[in-house]
Amino acid sequence: MRLIAANWKMNKGIHEAQEYIRKLLSLLKTTEDREILICPPFTALCELKNLLKETPIKLGAQNCYYKKSGAFTGEISPPMLKELNCEYIIVGHSERRHIFGEDDELINKKLIACLEEGLRPILCVGERLEERSAGMTFKVIETQLRLALSGIEDYTDSIDIAYEPVWAIGTGVPATPEDAVSVHRFIKDLIREINPSLKGDTRILYGGSVKPSNAPEFMKFEEIEGLLVGGASLEPESFAQIVYSF
Ligand code: 13P
Repeated sequence: MRLIAANWKMNKGIHEAQEYIRKLLSLLKTTEDREILICPPFTALCELKNLLKETPIKLGAQNCYYKKSGAFTGEISPPMLKELNCEYIIVGHSERRHIFGEDDELINKKLIACLEEGLRPILCVGERLEERSAGMTFKVIETQLRLALSGIEDYTDSIDIAYEPVWAIGTGVPATPEDAVSVHRFIKDLIREINPSLKGDTRILYGGSVKPSNAPEFMKFEEIEGLLVGGASLEPESFAQIVYSF
């Protein structure tokens, strides 16, 4: 089933989050044939845990640390997120990599910690503009994937992957659907090589300047198995349009 995920990033307090969810629920039509996920900031998780109970909308976190507990000031662990009914955790988002300096080794540890807790990671990969211009896109994606999945090759069915070209995030300039499809195919082939017994549960999502106007163009392709939406997920009306773009 395709997954349409909202990454609110550092937006919305509890009050705004409540209003958004009430509105979004009123806009939902059929939900059996698609998965809908909201990843709010940590501070709204507890409230949304209650609001989303017995609704078709799933809850996820935008980040985590890899230890279960301990002296790690400011960090949140996978068991804590599980207690808040999170089913998904975004791991290795480009903003974590490039603003907060997360490297592939840390991302690998976070993936392992999520899997141990039975949480489904959405692993983000993507090239920067200078890497794309230098013809390095596939090499960068391959390196990110191999390092992130190191030691957990057999668990790739329990992970979704988001292809988010860094130059497309928050810029209003998405990848062309054709370019995204070629990277998605490359990722699928690579994870099949990494894990030959792959059942095929890993979905490859696209993220980067997805809007209601361009979402149908992406979703026309079966290789695009979902979307990870930033800015356009902040209004329930535009997120609902994206949810029903296919
Ligand atoms: P935008 O949709 O705002 O470009 O952000 C994409 C993203 O980073 C989702 O994780």
